[in-house]
Amino acid sequence: MKFFLDTARLSDIKYWTDMGLVDGVTTNPSLIAKEEGTFKDIIRDICSVVDGPVSVEATSTDTDGILAEAREFATWSDNIVVKVPFIKEGVRALPFLRDEDIATNTTLIFSAPQALIAMKAGTNYVSPFVGRLDDIGHNGMEVVADIVTMCTTYGFDAEVIVASIRHPLHVVESARMGADIATIPAGVLDKMFMHPLTDKGLAAFLKDWQSVTQ
Ligand code: G3P
Repeated sequence: MKFFLDTARLSDIKYWTDMGLVDGVTTNPSLIAKEEGTFKDIIRDICSVVDGPVSVEATSTDTDGILAEAREFATWSDNIVVKVPFIKEGVRALPFLRDEDIATNTTLIFSAPQALIAMKAGTNYVSPFVGRLDDIGHNGMEVVADIVTMCTTYGFDAEVIVASIRHPLHVVESARMGADIATIPAGVLDKMFMHPLTDKGLAAFLKDWQSVTQ
């Protein structure tokens, strides 16, 4: 299973990349807005430290605008993936971008039918938002399970990115379902390290070690 980092913060990306845990990065306009600098510089800096795909979101809401943004982003680095919003105008852009070898990640997916359409239209990645579904009383992971089943059953040339992850259990459930990728906020990745028995066990080992003659 691949781990992407869901952030535009370069310090976090460097930290987790150095640990060998980052297979790619996803950003969105809200994450970019939290950082200093120009949009292009932020993305180019991220691309310079990440070997894998870096998702960058188009903010146009018409097909021509999305295509123009995608073509521009694709010149910034070889590993750019263009995030396309799941609207009809965005879906219309997908086959064009596929033909031009510009990779796409269809975002703001909240249902299995939406994902099916995006995959049929030729998206490279599909991003269901599990946390935001859970927030309104739906079960985000059930939607992921359906999408993974559809993708594998029909052999779509697409990968499922579980997005809007809120806690480590979302990552574990994603792995259990066979999702290709979890895009994880740095804070959740941090929590995946935590277990009180690890802390307690290490403290006991270090204490006992003090009585050992070296
Ligand atoms: O990048 C898309 C997605 O991961 C956003 O997550 O936490 O804003 O729902 P969140």
